[in-house]
Amino acid sequence: MKYSVVIPAAGQGKRMKAGKNKQFLELRGEPLIVHTLRLFEQDSLCDTIVLVANGEECEIMRELADAHQFKKVKAIIEGGKERQDSCKNGVDSLKTEQVVLIHDGARPFVTYDVIRRLVHKADETGAAIAAVPVKDTIKRVKEGVVVDTQNRAELWSVQTPQAFKWSLIKEAHTRAKEAGKVGTDDASLVEWLGHEVAIVEGDYQNIKLTTPDDLLFAEAILKERERKK
Ligand code: CTP
Ligand code: MG
Repeated sequence: MKYSVVIPAAGQGKRMKAGKNKQFLELRGEPLIVHTLRLFEQDSLCDTIVLVANGEECEIMRELADAHQFKKVKAIIEGGKERQDSCKNGVDSLKTEQVVLIHDGARPFVTYDVIRRLVHKADETGAAIAAVPVKDTIKRVKEGVVVDTQNRAELWSVQTPQAFKWSLIKEAHTRAKEAGKVGTDDASLVEWLGHEVAIVEGDYQNIKLTTPDDLLFAEAILKERERKK
């Protein structure tokens, strides 16, 4: 079952403190975004990649995609101020009967197993997201004081990809924009529409490179995967 993927990469990477968009930070001599794009380019089930980039970075992204002969990168779309705006632009640029994945450019380690679980579940139900049980206890805190302790058994750490039937995610983004609804992920907009969102098993190695510490974890994951090859 073929799918399309929207890859938001139009952030600033402020928490990474690299002085540039973290998508261009090098891992094993290649920009982070190249690692993520290659993963989808090499997936036989992936049909189309829509890359969402900052206006002034669209050209360099196109050059990177061409230099690596990533033929599935059919469009490079300009992003928006918030991640939600970037994802909306990517989703709007498509029109497909296929399941659409939305996957952070900053998550280069997602596996084909997770992708297959998502595509299958989203085709069946309309919306599916990858998640893992939280390992830490989570407390709500206000002004340095604990307000309450959440029941860990019910808490999941949510990742991307998030997978949807295109018409559903298109409607969710369109209606959210009209209503001024802001969500921290794409699935929350679908939930807000009243549509069920299924969880599939994610992967603890599917990290988002967010702060400098994550570069250490990324190196360790790359090393382990090279050893296993
Ligand atoms: N993203 C995007 N458009 C935005 C903001 C974020 O396409 N306006 C993308 C990022 O490039 C990243 C993904 O969404 O691949 C997840 O966002 P995050 O990890 O928050 O990245 P940044 O926003 O770049 O980082 P920060 O929040 O630290 O500035
Ligand atoms: Mg951000």
